[in-house]
Amino acid sequence: MSKEQQTKEKHNHLQRFYYTQDQVIEKPFNWQQMRRLLIYLKPYSKNYLPAAMLAMLISTLIRLIVPILIGKVAIDIVISNKNITMLTYLVLGIIVLYLINYLANVFRIKWVNMLGQNVIYDIRQHLFSHVQRLSHRFFDSRSAGSILVRIMNDINSLQELFTNGIINLLMDIVTLIGIIVILFVLSPKLALAIMIILPLMFYLTTKLRRKIRRSWQQVRIQQSRMNSHLNEALQGMRITQSFSQELENAEYFHGVNSDNFESWREATRKSAMFRPFVEMSNALGTIILISYGAHLILLGPENGGIGIGTFVSFAFFIGMFWDPISRLGQMYNQMLMAMAASERIFEFLDERPNVKEKENAYAFTDIEGQVEFDKVSFSYDEKRVALQEISLTIEAGETVALVGHTGSGKSTIANLISRFYDPVKGSVKMDGHDLRNVRLDSLRQKISIVLQDTFIFSGTIMENIRFGRPNATDDEVRQAAKFVGADDFINRMANGYETEVEERGNILSAGERQLLSFARALLADPRIIILDEATASIDTETEIKIQSALAKLLKKRTAIIIAHRLSTIRKADKIFVLENGRIIESGNHEELVQKQGKYYGLIKSQFQMLDVI
Ligand SMILES: Nc1ncnc2c1ncn2[C@@H]1O[C@H](COP(=O)(O)OP(=O)(O)O)[C@@H](O)[C@H]1O
Ligand SMILES: [Mg+2]
Repeated sequence: MSKEQQTKEKHNHLQRFYYTQDQVIEKPFNWQQMRRLLIYLKPYSKNYLPAAMLAMLISTLIRLIVPILIGKVAIDIVISNKNITMLTYLVLGIIVLYLINYLANVFRIKWVNMLGQNVIYDIRQHLFSHVQRLSHRFFDSRSAGSILVRIMNDINSLQELFTNGIINLLMDIVTLIGIIVILFVLSPKLALAIMIILPLMFYLTTKLRRKIRRSWQQVRIQQSRMNSHLNEALQGMRITQSFSQELENAEYFHGVNSDNFESWREATRKSAMFRPFVEMSNALGTIILISYGAHLILLGPENGGIGIGTFVSFAFFIGMFWDPISRLGQMYNQMLMAMAASERIFEFLDERPNVKEKENAYAFTDIEGQVEFDKVSFSYDEKRVALQEISLTIEAGETVALVGHTGSGKSTIANLISRFYDPVKGSVKMDGHDLRNVRLDSLRQKISIVLQDTFIFSGTIMENIRFGRPNATDDEVRQAAKFVGADDFINRMANGYETEVEERGNILSAGERQLLSFARALLADPRIIILDEATASIDTETEIKIQSALAKLLKKRTAIIIAHRLSTIRKADKIFVLENGRIIESGNHEELVQKQGKYYGLIKSQFQMLDVI
């Protein structure tokens, strides 16, 4: 396949992928879901919500009263009676009303924003703490990126709804109903004449709106494609550069970028049509008002016509008419978008942890650290079996090694000991307690896991080690680091223990990160320690240096080591050899070598260090 074809292939693939992900930007209106969203308003139903509604009502009423005062009262009554003092009072009254209106608006905006921000804060907090409680299985099936999008973007798209949306919707409805009622009271004939164009208006704006909405939807799809691509491109930059794929990447980016540009152009072009359209309807209304209104004025109020004042009021109200109508359309779009966003948010909120804590779960107090697998079978996906009828006992204080080819189930055993998953059959016990009966936090406090790929959080080195035990003093942190031999390299760094490491710890070598995680594990002082290929990325020299530290780390604790190095395995009290999720051999190093079985074959092929046997 040529390079060009490859790029195109990748383009198509990503396009399919992101389209299916983002297609549902809108969803039909769903009352049940709306009700569920509105529940988030409840904590504010005694302060911000009623306050904002009151302010909204006050300013709406004032805006409805003033045109009547100016038209009907000032022109028809005061001016035609030539009553100057009354006119002065009227003007003063209108000034006062406008001042009140101003204040009401200031407070409305303030309270509406407080309401919206609080609700968004609550939803985000709720979602994050919920996601944090979910089990490993949930994270197995989703990328961090897709979870992030829900916590950020989907919640952001609810923001408009909760800040301005709901209050504005009420305000527009009240205004529209108010205007219609007033117009009909002032002059049913003229009101009817003007309302004739209303259905047409509504139909056309809805149609135009739909077009505009679709094109903005395209913009969002393009944007999220660009985001995803950028995210991937930046994260994989090192690989891209090392394979000299910059040109292909730039070409692909050019494609995404210009699609984005095109979609924006299209959307702004369509949106630009909307305003003139509203103004034209406005003009149409005004033409009807002037032609038919003038006719009614000439008839005079006595003969079923209207006064000049009524005419003026009408002119004011018509100007106020179209904005709420066009905003209502907008509001509708917002609702549909909120529907899609909230559906995705609720989907996460409805996830339940696979690993559940029982109602009557109890906390571990002191445990010795004996671990027992009783005929445990397990599968990640109900299709392929990861463990089959595993039975093993690890006595408290023992060091046990698990060996076997990649995929044989070693890490799975570690996952079950920490109860990141529950066995499908059989049970895992610690000091005789079935793990399903104990509290998760008390269990995990007793266990430290050191993985091959250590996660370093952004923060100082000190903070990263302290992650193992948040209340440890600085001295204790230093001691732990010294103990595992991390002290040397930390002291060589610019600010020693206070050196800031970025997310993922890019400035540290794999071996250094590993030492930090040893210190972290030691500080936590667990009863059980699991090393999952933890020394794989440490060079031999460093490993020899930390051998004694490792020995101390494992001493007096139950240790499960999944090791790459023969030197670590040899010292284990017991070795379990795994193949396809079964234990096929067990014993100590000497016994297994003597047997000349699978273990012997494995170390012969994997370690090629027969001289040390
Ligand atoms: N999160 C997961 N989801 C689905 N399957 C998994 C997951 N983790 C491991 N597996 C599968 O389970 C089997 C055992 O894996 P594992 O215990 O990680 O092996 P290893 O001995 O290399 O540590 C493998 O077939 C692997 O593909
Ligand atoms: Mg593994």
